[in-house]
Amino acid sequence: MIATAAPQEIDTAFAGTMTAKLKEQFDEGLLSGQELRPDFTIAQPVHRYTDTDHAIWRKLYDRQASMLQGRVCDEFLQGLATLGMERNRVPEFDQLNETLMRATGWQVVAVPGLVPDEVFFDHLANRRFPASWWMRKPEQLDYLQEPDCFHDVFGHVPLLINPIFADYMEAYGKGGLKAAKLGALDMLARLYWYTVEFGLIRTPAGLRIFGAGILSSQGESIYSLDSASPNRIGFDLHRIMRTRYRIDTFQKTYFVIDSFEQLFDATRPDFTALYPELRTLPTLGAGDIVEGDRVINVGTREGWADSEDI
Ligand code: PHE
Ligand code: FE
Repeated sequence: MIATAAPQEIDTAFAGTMTAKLKEQFDEGLLSGQELRPDFTIAQPVHRYTDTDHAIWRKLYDRQASMLQGRVCDEFLQGLATLGMERNRVPEFDQLNETLMRATGWQVVAVPGLVPDEVFFDHLANRRFPASWWMRKPEQLDYLQEPDCFHDVFGHVPLLINPIFADYMEAYGKGGLKAAKLGALDMLARLYWYTVEFGLIRTPAGLRIFGAGILSSQGESIYSLDSASPNRIGFDLHRIMRTRYRIDTFQKTYFVIDSFEQLFDATRPDFTALYPELRTLPTLGAGDIVEGDRVINVGTREGWADSEDI
């Protein structure tokens, strides 16, 4: 049997990890009377999508699908094709899961919004990707800060068809549970940010996008590859785990992996001793270039925000 968590338990779980704004958005994503399971998932309320929701999905899908040709890595396009992801309507997670389960044992589960860190990691560690069920509003086509269904499903799910990436995400979830106990979530979050969300990959045909935060944004899909403004630097695990980032603007730096194997291999070692070691070194600004960087290009810094990086 599945019990509904009492509201005060949820408040406790959120304490410290959620801003008031995110909490409000979570509550909005939880429809009245809907059962929130203890793992913070809900049944995807497929009957609640409006014609506007479906139209927004279609518009974003078409816009990104055509623009991403020649910009996104082949593994993503393969995943999109294998999944047969809906173009006209918000996909039903159960349908995606039939293919996804068979391919790599992953599942997409619906959540009302951002869930607490440890809940998120526990899902990943068990090959479940928590996706917001709700769609952004028409006035948010180009930008919103919270992850909606388009970002989560279009951006993140296709790569879960790839066996190496699928294994990496599970390992990341397990690593997250461990890092939480070691007080190192800030460092591990930077790794996620600069790879899973904003990563680029080098291919024989040139740089390609694989990060979901880029993939679900028209503006950043162009900027990340074409603009002279950001730095582009070769992937370096220790360096990334010290690098602050932006949540409110395009990134100042993109890190470039050579392959998913490289990413997975680099993160295989036990991080237990690495965290305190990295803690002795200063953190780096989002736009810094430091000795030892494998620089692909130094950004012109045009349009960079002056405010502090996170
Ligand atoms: N190897 C890491 C550890 O021991 C876990 C991890 C795997 C972290 C993959 C990120 C990505 O903590
Ligand atoms: Fe995301």
